[in-house]
Amino acid sequence: PITAALDSQERLSIGGCLLSSLAEKYGTPLYILDELTLRTSCREYKDALSKYYPGDSIPLYASKANSSLIISNIVASEGMGVDVVSEGELITALKGGVESSNIVFHGNNKSKSELIMAYKNDVIIVLDNQYDIDQLREIVPFGKRKAKLMLRFTPGIECHTHEYIKTGHIDSKFGFDPDELESIFLQFKDIEWGELIGLHAHIGSQIFEVQPHKDLADVMASALQTGRKLGHSLNALNLGGGLGIRYIASDDPPSISDWVEVIAAAVVKACRERSLDLPLLMCEPGRSIVGSAGLTLYKIGSRKEIPGIKTYLSVDGGMSDNPRPITYQSEYSACLVDKPLIRADEVVTIAGKHCESGDVLLKDFRLPRSNSGDVLGVFSTGAYNFSMSSNYNRIPKPAAIIVGNGESELIQKRELPEDLLRNDILPDRFIAKG
Ligand code: LLP
Repeated sequence: PITAALDSQERLSIGGCLLSSLAEKYGTPLYILDELTLRTSCREYKDALSKYYPGDSIPLYASKANSSLIISNIVASEGMGVDVVSEGELITALKGGVESSNIVFHGNNKSKSELIMAYKNDVIIVLDNQYDIDQLREIVPFGKRKAKLMLRFTPGIECHTHEYIKTGHIDSKFGFDPDELESIFLQFKDIEWGELIGLHAHIGSQIFEVQPHKDLADVMASALQTGRKLGHSLNALNLGGGLGIRYIASDDPPSISDWVEVIAAAVVKACRERSLDLPLLMCEPGRSIVGSAGLTLYKIGSRKEIPGIKTYLSVDGGMSDNPRPITYQSEYSACLVDKPLIRADEVVTIAGKHCESGDVLLKDFRLPRSNSGDVLGVFSTGAYNFSMSSNYNRIPKPAAIIVGNGESELIQKRELPEDLLRNDILPDRFIAKG
C-alpha cells in the first residue's frame, strides 16, 4: 500500500495505523484495506482514460476481485461503474450505491432469476451465449422497456498467464465464437425486447504485456465495424480487465496510466483506420484496483524444523482465507510487521492451519528469526482472497477493516463458529428422545 510507513521503532504502519496494534485490537487473521491506495488506483484509471482517450469512457470495477458494501461505495464515489456476475455481486453493488446504469452483468450460465433481477434493475446485460438470448427473450415483457445488451465474444488472443485465468483463447467457455457474430447481428436486427449497445471481450488476468490488449482493440474494432454495417448503433467497446500487479519483487507490470495509454491509443488507431466514430470505452479492472490496497495479518504459531530440509512456521489462517497459492501456485511477499527491516536470516515455509499438506502461503521465504505470537503481514491480498475464501475445516472467515488517516474501522465482522452452524439442519428424527 502507498501509505506504508515506519514508526520511530521501525515498526510497520499502514494508513497511519500500527499493524501490530491492529492485530491486537481486531484479532487475526485480519484483512486490511487501505482506503487511499484503493482510491488512488480508481483515480489513476479515471484520469488516464480522460487524458488519453478522446471519446467518452468509464472504468468498471470487476467486483469478483473483492465484493463488499464498502468497496462498492468507494468505487462509486470515485465515479467508476461495476462489473458483476451474480445476484450477490449485483445486490452488493446496488446497496453500496453504484448507479444501475453503470453496472454490467456478466456470466456464462446466468440463471433466470439473475436475468430477471438484472433486467428489473435496468443494468447492462452481457449476452454470453444463445441460452442467455433464449431466456431473456421470454423474460422481457413485450412492448416494455428494452433490455440494454452487450455481446461478449472470444477474440482468439493468447496471453501469458496461468492456464486457469486465460479467457481469450478460442476454446474458452466464455462468449460467442467470432464466426457466430455476423449471424447474431442479423438475429438482433429488429428485435422488440433488447437493444445491442456494444461489444465485450476479456482475455485473461494478471497480464504484464500490453501487446495482447493492443491486438484485442483491433479485433474488437473490426467486430464493431461489422455490427455497425449490419445496422446496430453499437456505441460501446468493453475491453475487459487483466492488468497485473506486483506480488513479488521480480514482477514488473506496466503502471495503470501506461496500460490505459496503450489501450486508448490502440482503440483510437483501430477505429480511425476503419473510419468509425469513437465508441464509449469501457474497461473492467479488478486486481489492479484492489489488489495492492489489501494485506492480511496472521499470528505465527507453531514451528517445525526438519534438520537440513526445511523449517515450517504455521500461521492461524491459510488456504481458506487465501486460496491463490494452492490454486495457482501464486507467490506473495510478507514481513514480520514489527521487524520489517531486521536482517532476514532464516529461510522458512509459511504454512496454513488446514488439514492439507499443500496449504502453504509462502515457500522458501526469507524472514528474520521469529517467535510464536509475532505478527506476519502478507501483502497484496486485496484481490481474489476474501472473494474466494471458504470455510474449509469449518474455519470462520476473518474480519476485515479499512484504514486511513490513522483510523481503523470494521467493514466485515469476523465469523463465529455459530455462524457456521446457522444453515445446518438436524432433522427431528435424529434428535434423541426422552
Ligand atoms: N472482466 C471479466 C469478464 C473477467 O472475467 C475478469 C476476471 C475481470 C474483468 C477482471 O480481471 P482482473 O482485472 O482482475 O485481472 N481468481 C483469479 C483471477 C480470475 C479472474 C477472473 N476474471 C486469481 O486469483 O488470480
